[in-house]
Amino acid sequence: MPTRIPVIIDCDTGVDDAMALICGLATDRLDIRAITVVAGNQTLDKTSVNTLNLVDFLGYKVKVSKGADKPLNRELITAEHVHGRSGMGGVKLPESSLRFYEKNAVETIAEEALAAEGQLEIIAVGPLTNIALAILAHPFLKKSIKRITLMGGSIDGGNHTPAAEFNVYVDPEAAQVVMNSGIPIVMVGLEVTEKAYLTKEEIQSLSLWHASDETSKTIKALLENMLEICTMFGYQGAVMHDPLALCYVLDESLIKTKAMAIQVETQGEITRGKTVADRYLVTDRKPNVQVGLEIDRLRFVELIKELLNKYIK
Ligand code: RIB
Ligand code: CA
Repeated sequence: MPTRIPVIIDCDTGVDDAMALICGLATDRLDIRAITVVAGNQTLDKTSVNTLNLVDFLGYKVKVSKGADKPLNRELITAEHVHGRSGMGGVKLPESSLRFYEKNAVETIAEEALAAEGQLEIIAVGPLTNIALAILAHPFLKKSIKRITLMGGSIDGGNHTPAAEFNVYVDPEAAQVVMNSGIPIVMVGLEVTEKAYLTKEEIQSLSLWHASDETSKTIKALLENMLEICTMFGYQGAVMHDPLALCYVLDESLIKTKAMAIQVETQGEITRGKTVADRYLVTDRKPNVQVGLEIDRLRFVELIKELLNKYIK
């Protein structure tokens, strides 16, 4: 069996973050050292509890560590209109009696990076506040985090404003710190995540669709929620933004990437949070990010099915 990849998943659990965690916890390819939580889709008190409840409900023992409750130097904006008041759409989970890990996200990232001796990868699927704070507080992380695969950004149009994708819009300063940290970055942005959808037919063909156990019913409810919201916004199915970033770490052939020089707009009013790519090499900036440009959607759907089917009892 190939060696398990030591990872930290940093998330703002939300519905598609939950799907990413469900997929990540199902595979034996990842050694999830900790899950760190940030404010984004909802406030930190909600995203953190959603994460703890989900991990406990699924029956896993993973450190869940609370992080930043607001961006580096902006007021928090949430995506309540997408993920609902709880952050989990309409899906209710049993309240966990587990406690959060005693260290905060920044110290947890530092602790696990040291323990992994340069092999730790981060899968970041929310605003990048925790990652930026960790890099600023512990500069050694620039050399000891092997790779950051992040769901965020886009090189051509946004989903929160016409210029910016939500995660980068929420905390553009944090994104700028991370993109320029020197750590190998893979940007799984809207160019590929908007094509990472599951159609209604693909969802209803899942083996768990007819299962009656509580876990399968919860996954089904999350997928139905995503399908309803995404089709309302005009997508062809349930868009799996965050699961795609995690699946890339499991199978890099899912996404074709290109090295680009990426900078994040932090001063603009209309362009706040735009991930600006030097596509025509008009600057002397060296490429600092591998940007996802194409996806093998059918292979992605097959991998999602394989991971979700592991939950059928
Ligand atoms: O733009 C999509 C991203 O914003 C996803 O991570 C989703 O969970 C929201 O956080
Ligand atoms: Ca997210």
